[in-house]
Amino acid sequence: MKIVVLAGGLSPERSVSLSTGAMVAQALRAQGHQAALVDMFFGLEGRGDSPQALFDDPIPQEIKRIDPRAPDLKQIRSQRREQSPSLFGPGVLALCALADVVFLALHGSCGEDGRVQAAFDLLGIPYTGAGSLGSAIAMDKDLTKRLTAGLVSTPGWKTTAYTAQDIDALVRSARLPLVIKPVASGSSIGVSIAHTPQELRAALHSGLSQGGRTVLEEYVKGREVQVGILEDRALPSIEILPKAGFYDYSNKYQPGAAVEVCPAPVPPEVEDRLRQAALRVYHTLGLSVYARADFILDSAGEIWFLEINTLPGMTPTSLLPQEAAAVGIGYGELCERIVQESLRVRREGR
Ligand SMILES: Nc1ncnc2c1ncn2[C@@H]1O[C@H](COP(=O)(O)OP(=O)(O)O)[C@@H](O)[C@H]1O
Ligand SMILES: [Mg+2]
Repeated sequence: MKIVVLAGGLSPERSVSLSTGAMVAQALRAQGHQAALVDMFFGLEGRGDSPQALFDDPIPQEIKRIDPRAPDLKQIRSQRREQSPSLFGPGVLALCALADVVFLALHGSCGEDGRVQAAFDLLGIPYTGAGSLGSAIAMDKDLTKRLTAGLVSTPGWKTTAYTAQDIDALVRSARLPLVIKPVASGSSIGVSIAHTPQELRAALHSGLSQGGRTVLEEYVKGREVQVGILEDRALPSIEILPKAGFYDYSNKYQPGAAVEVCPAPVPPEVEDRLRQAALRVYHTLGLSVYARADFILDSAGEIWFLEINTLPGMTPTSLLPQEAAAVGIGYGELCERIVQESLRVRREGR
């Protein structure tokens, strides 16, 4: 098949996405496909050759390494020569229209949030992963929690679009500790944990620069466990043990910063509950193909659902590929199954 792997984009998670994209494109080629890797935001800018040439380009190796710091999007935006408001770079849509399917290696806003999916639905371009509506809901932590709060335990929360004038009142009324997170972000970008009023104040001030709504969520002390889903079935859970602090951006992407154990060493009954909770969220949001749900398991054995990712990290050492490997699904096969399952659900109109 001819497959365009779409990565990068104007997203705070573009570095992670480029790494995912390079690995996926390489694996799809090894599976015998023609795969072209393209940065959604920069597109074919600066290339004089035909779009077809991209299918023969070597996969750049340097982008596999994830930048330890989240990128400055203003600077990225200024690097594109084409002055257009479009988030699709020059030639991207024409290239995607040439493909049998577009593999979405995008993460975060602009890619994981349903807008690219909706555009492709309208253009008749098949793509991998969940459809537009489920993707949009899953990207919004407030909507996700509202829709699933009756079905799974999720930490108490409040969502606010505050201004600098509201910070004093928010700090006064807060019951600490709290987790502060942008309503629609990923990779822990903008997430902080406040144990003291001073920390909460600082987190709220820095959150102002992100704009948009903010989720203030009860902090749950416990073990971090995540559950991947593939083809509507739950994979074995994985436990993450950051060596220091919580599972923030640098602990996610700095090699060796966290230990990951798969299957998670939990009693079978807890494993069952984790898998059922992940599937319940997945079905409630109308997701398809694959996803990964994040939980905290507290000392009383209660599981707390945090969020679900519709385009989870897909480097071979990412969490979902590790979970697939635990049931004998190698990385190449995983990429292949995502493509085949996506084509199947797109044919069903999902
Ligand atoms: N309520 C919470 N209690 C304890 N830790 C949390 C809570 N919410 C988030 N975290 C920590 O922050 C990380 C990122 O939060 P998450 O909701 O998964 O957002 P993201 O989309 O950025 O991954 C989690 O993996 C966990 O380590
Ligand atoms: Mg998460």
